[in-house]
Amino acid sequence: MMPIEERQRLANESPKWMYEFDLGDGIVTPLLAEELRTIHDTRERMIFSRLDVLLPSLEGLRCLDAGCNEGFFAQQLYQRGAAVDALDIRDVNIRRAKAVREICGLDPARLRFSTRDFFDLKAEPETYDVSLFLGLLYHLENPMGALRLLHRITRDVAVIETQFTRQQSAIESGWGQTGIYHQLEASCGLMLEEDAHANRLASHKVLSFVPNPAAVRLMLEAAGFTRIEQLEPEAGMNPQYLGNDRGIFFAFKQS
Ligand SMILES: C[S@@+](CC[C@H](N)C(=O)[O-])C[C@H]1O[C@@H](n2cnc3c(N)ncnc32)[C@H](O)[C@@H]1O
Repeated sequence: MMPIEERQRLANESPKWMYEFDLGDGIVTPLLAEELRTIHDTRERMIFSRLDVLLPSLEGLRCLDAGCNEGFFAQQLYQRGAAVDALDIRDVNIRRAKAVREICGLDPARLRFSTRDFFDLKAEPETYDVSLFLGLLYHLENPMGALRLLHRITRDVAVIETQFTRQQSAIESGWGQTGIYHQLEASCGLMLEEDAHANRLASHKVLSFVPNPAAVRLMLEAAGFTRIEQLEPEAGMNPQYLGNDRGIFFAFKQS
């Protein structure tokens, strides 16, 4: 076990943490924002109440956590028996994920963390039975390319969690000839993430595309997923999910 002083130093280092990890001897990593507690709790309950029914055990399965940050959701897959590859573009996040893995005595051969851009992942088609893609879609400059890659490397189901714009009505767009217009139900809002260099939860590039729910469905279908389920939050869950500002999709490769 890592000495208590070292664990204390790790927990107290700046910036504060994305997840609350129990490092033993009463040491708990401090959250960088209080709301994260209910965001994580909501996501954990929504995702695993569905996944645990689909796949009661992940033993023998290979799973991916893309944009894993400090690795909380990768750990959830690991605890269910999966061999997990988890990656994040920021080394500071991966260093923390590895430190927590060591402190918690988790097997590094079955819970593998690497610092990598998702777009550089060189996995064979259908490598991952289950892929998590949480909190990443709306931080990307090329979300459609990412979903195509996600579809290619996933064998069974991908779980996509994202922020939504509040755009519910169609956007009218001219189309080639004077007086011809399309009503586009699916749309994205463009966001300049000017804090990308300083915010370790954010995008790596500065321009991000935030989708509305119809855009997520359309992009997942265009990427090749054949069945798409949007999960329903339950009463009492985080208001962003109840208010449709964030949502979670299960995207299946086979029907
Ligand atoms: C909002 S956080 C979500 C973290 C975690 N997946 C979750 O939902 O709790 C987004 C994470 O994606 C990482 N990230 C951003 N762009 C990435 C990319 N191109 N490839 C891999 N990770 C990326 C960030 O460093 C950050 O840790």
